[in-house]
Amino acid sequence: MDKIIIKGGRPLKGTVNISGAKNAVLPIMAATLLASGKFTIKNVPDLLDVKTMSNLLRIIGAKVQYEDHTLTIDTSECNFFEAPYELVKTMRASIYVLGPLLARFSKAKVSLPGGCAIGPRPVDLHIKAFEQLGADIELNKGYIVASADKLKGTHVNFDISSVGATGNILMAAVLSDGRTVIENAAREPEISALANFLVKMGADISGIGTDRLLINGVKELHVVDFEILPDRIEAGTFLIAAAITGGEIELRSVDPSHVSSLTGKLRNSGICIEEGESSIYCKAPERVRAVNITTSSYPGFPTDLQAQWLALMCVANGSSVITENIFVDRFTHVAELRRLGAQIELKKNIVVIRGIDTLNGAPVMSTDLRASASLILAGLKAEGQTEVLRVYHIDRGYESIEKKLANLGATIRREEGGY
Ligand code: UD1
Repeated sequence: MDKIIIKGGRPLKGTVNISGAKNAVLPIMAATLLASGKFTIKNVPDLLDVKTMSNLLRIIGAKVQYEDHTLTIDTSECNFFEAPYELVKTMRASIYVLGPLLARFSKAKVSLPGGCAIGPRPVDLHIKAFEQLGADIELNKGYIVASADKLKGTHVNFDISSVGATGNILMAAVLSDGRTVIENAAREPEISALANFLVKMGADISGIGTDRLLINGVKELHVVDFEILPDRIEAGTFLIAAAITGGEIELRSVDPSHVSSLTGKLRNSGICIEEGESSIYCKAPERVRAVNITTSSYPGFPTDLQAQWLALMCVANGSSVITENIFVDRFTHVAELRRLGAQIELKKNIVVIRGIDTLNGAPVMSTDLRASASLILAGLKAEGQTEVLRVYHIDRGYESIEKKLANLGATIRREEGGY
């Protein structure tokens, strides 16, 4: 397994281009199953999760090619309506094929994802809403087995705002008979991107960007070309990297409005932020002020930046509190950050951090995607050498993170193989 080796202490300087959004491209790839023909999707990040979703679509019968950040997906010969455990266990977003398969082919068999390093992640909201749309659902030998002669429009009111459930039901509803209303829909920009993709395909959706989506089912959809929006979590990770190193960087190809909950907190912590139309300039002092955060659904502070913010607070001036409200067990990075000397107390979903001057490099292990990012950020600040082991997690969601950081002046390299 590859590891990333960092010698900390260098402020980041320069410009970095942000890649396309992982959490938008995955549902959009699944949505291509809703029509027959050849799709072209541009600005697709080169990520392990994109490869996993490509392999899943290939199993279903699609022809998928990836070159120069462009995906072509030909869905004309799909004939196998199953997402096997081997793939789903490596990427929970595989569940996104359930809605499109059910809507276009009237049946689907998708492995239940099970738990993961960020805690229990149930799919009960997906299942309940599919049943409301008229699907028969059985849980059999670890699989969700779904069928429906014809899905019928319905009224779905989610108890919890769920990105995955909103996307899945939206993809099923666009080909259903009649009208579907989704209340308490997720408002994340990636859901709006999916909705815009579906509208381009011929779907009738209104309320995009709000928590109430209205869908009038259509008979059929057609193939389109589409460009993926910038990844707000990658953008946020680089802003926090600049903050933790006392750096000065500019992000390009970014949508500043999508990271305003983070830039607000960065400003509170003493960082200068200037926003352009598709760029963000960020200049950090040597040491930031401690600032509390509470994660919540969009437009609140994203859970996907909680681990990175926690790393920053470890070296902030003062004490801070982080409350994780989305995935209450998402704290595997805490024990690893303590190995670098961080002063952190964890009680249930609340973390109290006492900022210290600096961290000390050590070997650490990454346990999930965003935890890996937080350990890399901590390593950029820590004195001496930090080795982040098991970095395959980072390859799921960050394109060439070590190259992008090295271009900004970090002393960082990947070592292939080994433990
Ligand atoms: C998506 C993102 C992930 C992000 C998360 C929250 C993708 C591929 N992944 O994950 O990066 O961290 O949103 O912004 O886009 N829940 C249930 N039952 C369900 C579904 C969800 O109780 O059936 C709960 C979850 O346990 C969690 C909350 O709802 O507490 C939100 O989860 P959800 O938005 O569904 O996360 P994902 O779509 O899995």
